[in-house]
Amino acid sequence: MNYSNAARVFPRSGVRKMYEMASCYEDSINLCIGEPGFITPKHIIKVGADNLLAGKTKYTPNAGILPLREAVAEKLRTENHIPCNPDQIIITAGGTQALMLALITLVDHGDEVIIPNPEWPDYLGQVLMAGATPVSAVLTEENRFKMTAEVIEPLITPKTKLIMLNTPANPTGAMLSADETEAIAELIKRRKVFVIFDEAYERLTYDGNRHVSLGSFPGLQDYLVTINTFSKTYAMTGWRVGYACANEEITARMVKLHENMVASVNEAFQLAAIRALESAASDVEMMRQTYDKNRKLIVEGLNKLKGFSCLNPQGAFYAFPNVKEFGGSSTEIAGMIFEKTHVATAPGSAFGSAGEGYLRLSFANDYESLEIALNRLEKAFGCK
Ligand SMILES: Cc1ncc(COP(=O)(O)O)c(C=O)c1O
Repeated sequence: MNYSNAARVFPRSGVRKMYEMASCYEDSINLCIGEPGFITPKHIIKVGADNLLAGKTKYTPNAGILPLREAVAEKLRTENHIPCNPDQIIITAGGTQALMLALITLVDHGDEVIIPNPEWPDYLGQVLMAGATPVSAVLTEENRFKMTAEVIEPLITPKTKLIMLNTPANPTGAMLSADETEAIAELIKRRKVFVIFDEAYERLTYDGNRHVSLGSFPGLQDYLVTINTFSKTYAMTGWRVGYACANEEITARMVKLHENMVASVNEAFQLAAIRALESAASDVEMMRQTYDKNRKLIVEGLNKLKGFSCLNPQGAFYAFPNVKEFGGSSTEIAGMIFEKTHVATAPGSAFGSAGEGYLRLSFANDYESLEIALNRLEKAFGCK
């Protein structure tokens, strides 16, 4: 049979392959999946469960229920300094769908889309599914993996339609500063291209670093789609609730296409998301502090080991150590480490060619498991 190009050429996720291998062993410690170790705070679960039992089981408006769009707009205005109203918000099935929706609203076959490399692999997959041409912005350890205006500008051609940006970044933990974000805002206004700004990890930042939204800079309303999700901040990955914010025209077009993809997100979960926005600040801070403690443990631990050297991630919950000293591909290195220690890590190449020579380790796991993982690594490879 003649399957679609996307269905034929897509590689299987390098992260999933490792995850599945780790699942075969009882004693394995799985650091390859990017998911909070916490379950959703109970008071948020209760709102979802109570509303399901109360019969909130039907379709909702394509854009999402008004009270949630109002709460999101209020959050974006007050916390992110993005001027917006509820008609500029669409509620989506996670950030993943918000990204896809923005892409199919803004790009056509043959358009070039600049994406980070290393990147969250869905960016590449989604650009290919949208029929556009991905252009890699190679990010280097020397530049702390930052996708700055200087990295982006030389890649812009007459065919460039859109730039995808993610800060704090998966898989590197890199964050753009306020000045670096402002320089990107100036670049976008000068070069007049669309930009998707993915803030999925905005609340998970460390060492006093603060996330700055691109949408807080003036003059970008014709170009910008801001994406966010309840998944990482509130440990709500399974609920599949996210959102996009753009000008009213772009949003209306996304709403139209959304009807054909997902139609609407279920009401009980949208009500739970309101609860998260309004009453979960202390839960979020508790989780952030836990990840921060884990981050210190894992980065210090890795930097002691022979063969590993790791930058301090400024945000998200991933360490991205350089393991080039081991030689061979990152898939081989992750495989060798798993064989010796049953610690599962994601090969950097799963995040793009520039991830070769690195591994991604999630530190959203519990502290004790991370300690055991580091002990096993120390036994296997020794200290410097
Ligand atoms: C950078 C980034 N953006 C967006 C998402 C989407 O998350 P979700 O679809 O669960 O909202 C993820 C998930 O891993 C991510 O890492």
